[in-house]
Amino acid sequence: MIKRTLIVGNWKMNLSIAQASFLVSKLHKKIAGHRDIEVVLAPHTLALQPVSLQIDRRRFRLAAQNAYYKDEGAYTGEVSFTLLNDIVHYAIIGHSERRVYFNEDLDMIRDKVSACVRNQITPILCVGETSQEWSNGESKQVLHDQIVSALSDLTANEVAGMVIVYEPQWTITTFHGRPAKPDEVKSAVDFIRKQVSELYDDTAAKHLRVLYGGSVDEHSAGSYLRVEGCEGVLVGSASLNYQRFAAIVDSAYRKNRERADSDAKRQD
Ligand code: 13P
Repeated sequence: MIKRTLIVGNWKMNLSIAQASFLVSKLHKKIAGHRDIEVVLAPHTLALQPVSLQIDRRRFRLAAQNAYYKDEGAYTGEVSFTLLNDIVHYAIIGHSERRVYFNEDLDMIRDKVSACVRNQITPILCVGETSQEWSNGESKQVLHDQIVSALSDLTANEVAGMVIVYEPQWTITTFHGRPAKPDEVKSAVDFIRKQVSELYDDTAAKHLRVLYGGSVDEHSAGSYLRVEGCEGVLVGSASLNYQRFAAIVDSAYRKNRERADSDAKRQD
């Protein structure tokens, strides 16, 4: 089974519509379409519609950064996954900035994951511990609790189609983090798969895509993408610069070529 490497740029609450349009035009020039790489852009909600009209959909897909879990109704100020489902393929759920700044708890995140799936949007579920939890050695317990709760309304088949990102708070630029080391990412990625396998089955664990996010840049992306079982990266600040983001996509391209070459040699 060949999985496409997933490179997601989370623009967070940055870029006016004009700036977003400028960035997209630069990305079009700089990033070619690759069959084995999926490039996903996550603009803020206001920019999603104009960006969706501008992008070449053969090369780029869109993700929402957030939405409300109810499908419709009197929820002033909110946008639902139902309203977004003809614009986006993906939605980022459980991002630590939403957990911390907007008090999104485990139940809210579970309901958002279910709402995504109900509306044919693939959840990109972010999980990860705080720096305090990391120092206390509680990482695995936190990941376990976040995963069990977020997936609790889903079938094995639905889990198989989704994306989970290991994005510990202690690595995110927002929280003045330091990047995780590749072996730290490896142990978290393996743990996430093991949890899914125990909760569902090996097929779901195998099909699910697991990513890393947290201070990923054009210099470090290659080392994360070479971690066995890490099938992409979620990029924050570096995704706002087209040269840096294109260089990250290029790292994925080079890593995939290396793998294809070594597979070909093994078959000789
Ligand atoms: P940085 O890459 O800026 O650390 O952000 C990571 C992140 O939060 C991506 O969603």
